[in-house]
Amino acid sequence: MMRMLDIIHKKREGLELTPEEIQFFVKGVTDETIPDYQTAAFLMTVVFQGMNSKETALLTEAMMHSGDTIDLSSIQGIKVDKHSTGGVGDKTTIALGPMVASCGVPVAKMSGRGLGHTGGTIDKLESFPGFQTSLPIERFIQQVNDIKVAVAGQTANLAPADKKLYALRDVTDTIENISLIAGSIMSKKLASGADAIVLDVKTGSGAFMKTREDAVALGKAMVEIGDHMGRETVAVVTDMDQPLGLAVGNILEVKEAIDVLKGQGPDDITELCVHLGAWMLVLGKKAGNLEEGEQAMQDSISSGRALERMKQFVSSQGGDSGYVEDPSLFPATKHMLEVKATSTGIVTQIDAENIGRAALILGAGRENKDSVIDLSVGVLLHKKTGDPVEKDEPLVTLHANDLEKAKEAEAVVLEAYSIGQEQPAKKPLIIEVIQA
Ligand code: URA
Repeated sequence: MMRMLDIIHKKREGLELTPEEIQFFVKGVTDETIPDYQTAAFLMTVVFQGMNSKETALLTEAMMHSGDTIDLSSIQGIKVDKHSTGGVGDKTTIALGPMVASCGVPVAKMSGRGLGHTGGTIDKLESFPGFQTSLPIERFIQQVNDIKVAVAGQTANLAPADKKLYALRDVTDTIENISLIAGSIMSKKLASGADAIVLDVKTGSGAFMKTREDAVALGKAMVEIGDHMGRETVAVVTDMDQPLGLAVGNILEVKEAIDVLKGQGPDDITELCVHLGAWMLVLGKKAGNLEEGEQAMQDSISSGRALERMKQFVSSQGGDSGYVEDPSLFPATKHMLEVKATSTGIVTQIDAENIGRAALILGAGRENKDSVIDLSVGVLLHKKTGDPVEKDEPLVTLHANDLEKAKEAEAVVLEAYSIGQEQPAKKPLIIEVIQA
């Protein structure tokens, strides 16, 4: 008979676990036959001893099968999913979905709400009056077959083993291990049914992976898991040292995503959408190579096809597509306050984490799972890294409904901006691409 104690001991000694041992562990976590203290001890041995790529793939596969797996086989074409490890101002999915769909690759996206500086994609989309995010699976599939894009809230019981493990990791300081992180992310992605996956692995001050080395290692681990599971996976490591685009906040971000679709978006977010979308077209076999994919993505914007698809997408899910046409219909906040530079110089750094925190203080995100989001508030940047700035020029505009909170957010924004005299080295947005 297999015993958890022996598995912990084996990993403690740095030995490789068998598939049966890994499956025993994941099953025991899921059905709660393994007590938390043994699970926690095991997680700590993994942090110290690591798992090789075979063990990591087996762990992920077992976690993926610990709950529901979604069958998207009745959707025509190669379904390509996209996942971001999360950053400040990341509204990519909202623009990318219609862009990719308009080029013929089906995007069947399950998305979360989550805790964060702003809401998740689902919350942001609910900025459109009437927009429904709880779609029955049949309707979800029908919509993807009709217009190639649907985004729904996650209702299925995906990778319950991950939920349990994550909760324990969170309180035992065992979050930070590449195998555990990669397995956690990929088990959920694999369970949600896509044929191929494009991962945006963010690195920098506003990202979960602070260093490039860690981001690359995570990207590699996830690509290897995808490969093991027969799902083509590409990981793109991208910069998150400053917020993406200019908008941080739910409605503000939706408006910026619409700007991207109109060809009027900030350069960085537009470049990211074009690049990630190009990979989705390559994996979806609608582009022969990256250059062709990028050209198709750019054409989807300049031809107006992506914007048209956005309107169809919003109205198919019950939302008012008039807001895509005229984003000034979105409700504004009671107050708009400029935060002004305290000196003249060049913006040398913008701490993304602090800009996110300012948005959270204004009410854009959830501090805990019961918090109510204020969709209209947020931070709109006027200056990005490398921009010259005069004393008293506005750095950002705070969109606020509460002056007390705005005061607090102002202090955090001022802390986020570093103004110096030397032009900082220009950093690329797309840092590295990892393929099997
Ligand atoms: N995000 C996840 O989903 N899991 C992790 O372990 C870390 C980040």
